[in-house]
Amino acid sequence: MLYLGIDSGTQSTKTVVLDVERGEIIAHASKAYGLIGGLPAGHLEQHPEAWFDAVCETVASCLQQIGERKGEVRGIGVSGQQHGLVVLNSEDEVIRPAKLWCDTSTTEQCSRFEAAFGGMSGLIEKAGNAILPGYTIPKLLWIKDNEPGNFKSVRSVLLPHDYLNFRLTGVKRMEYGDASGTGVLNVRTREWDRDLTAFVDSSVDEMLPELGSSNHVHGTVLPELAKEWGLPTGVLVSSGGGDNMMGAIGTGNLGGGVVTASFGTSGTLYACSEQPIIDPAGEVAAFCDSTDRWLPLVCTMNVTVVTEQVRGWFGWDLAEFERQVASVPAGADGVGFLPYLNGERTPNLPKGTGWIHGLGAASATPAALARAAMEGATLGLGYGLRRFAELGLSPTEIRLTGGGSKSAVWRQISADIFGVPVVALATAEGAGLGGAIQAAFADGAGTYEELSDRLVKLDDSTRCNPDPERVGPYREKLDRQMELTFLLREKGWL
Ligand code: XUL
Repeated sequence: MLYLGIDSGTQSTKTVVLDVERGEIIAHASKAYGLIGGLPAGHLEQHPEAWFDAVCETVASCLQQIGERKGEVRGIGVSGQQHGLVVLNSEDEVIRPAKLWCDTSTTEQCSRFEAAFGGMSGLIEKAGNAILPGYTIPKLLWIKDNEPGNFKSVRSVLLPHDYLNFRLTGVKRMEYGDASGTGVLNVRTREWDRDLTAFVDSSVDEMLPELGSSNHVHGTVLPELAKEWGLPTGVLVSSGGGDNMMGAIGTGNLGGGVVTASFGTSGTLYACSEQPIIDPAGEVAAFCDSTDRWLPLVCTMNVTVVTEQVRGWFGWDLAEFERQVASVPAGADGVGFLPYLNGERTPNLPKGTGWIHGLGAASATPAALARAAMEGATLGLGYGLRRFAELGLSPTEIRLTGGGSKSAVWRQISADIFGVPVVALATAEGAGLGGAIQAAFADGAGTYEELSDRLVKLDDSTRCNPDPERVGPYREKLDRQMELTFLLREKGWL
């Protein structure tokens, strides 16, 4: 029995084929793409058609790799970047490019939600979450405010993975996990909050598709697509979910105190919970997961963005970057890097920028900058982990996934900054694997626990324990990073 997992990300789409009996990924393919260029600062957009093209290309490549075995494919599960806003007209055509999770152009719309519903605390009381620029609903209000013509023609609102599910099956539907990132799902009751949707417009309720369980099958692959790809008829498409929700499935994060840290363009920390975990300070998002449970999550917007930026400055390949970082002791010779190149969500600094500090004549070196960048991005997640602990989530081990988890030096830095042992997964493609596992679950191949025990593999050679000599100094470096951040924010410079 074979299942495809599709991870439609911000930088690329990666597709894998999972052989459930052998417990192995037997094919994979990826296709990279960029953001739409030339937009004003803070506007980060992509065209949904580019995602679907990448899906078609990577699926075709995977199916070619498995040859005749494509007749054994039984299901597909799609993971997508969370929060992006896809708007369709009455002909189901995309009206304008999608505003993405990292788009920060909607601060004014967020302030209006706060003003109308008793501030951030009023919003959290109401539906469980703050309304932040990354989330979907302020993007829809932004379109109403700035592009009234476009807004008038909106008939359907979908999230990125919902749109891909729609292209695969012809069915529009949202499942609880990704829906919770819109900002208008009451995460306690898993129903839309009608006051919040009406605040945007009375027509919004009709734009939202059917909402339901993440454990329900979304549909089956459209006959014309199945024919084009040479797939059997009736291949199911599971509900799919946001990339963090699918990453939770693909890293075996199904409860019991497991925390996953994902080092991608953004950084996330998340844990599966049997009940909603609502943070009165709004720093831990109270999302639902994609197995009908909940997924408290911290997201920072600057992880590989920062390391890739510095790597680009000096023209190093990944191996050279790794060597440079490893050549400088922990603490980066006192150099610090506030990593807010893309603005930031945690802490909430939509207009934030990066700041490098602590440079001395001897420490102002490319290598120290490289280490400071890696440390600064990881300390950002360390701040989130502190908030997790304040809410009673204290992991004994953190599972690493995403591109950054492939770096040995980064894994040790993470263990030292988090003060908790870390281990990477055998595959860095947690979200894609999660998609394939969800499809297997939807096909009745086993419970999540059974499938996870069999299919999610830790790579024991990557295990790192915190070095007691470094934990304390990194704690101080985190204090310094956050004090500087709040000082600069108070001054209005961040
Ligand atoms: C999480 C978030 C990001 C995106 C990245 O809330 O916005 O992790 O899902 O694709």
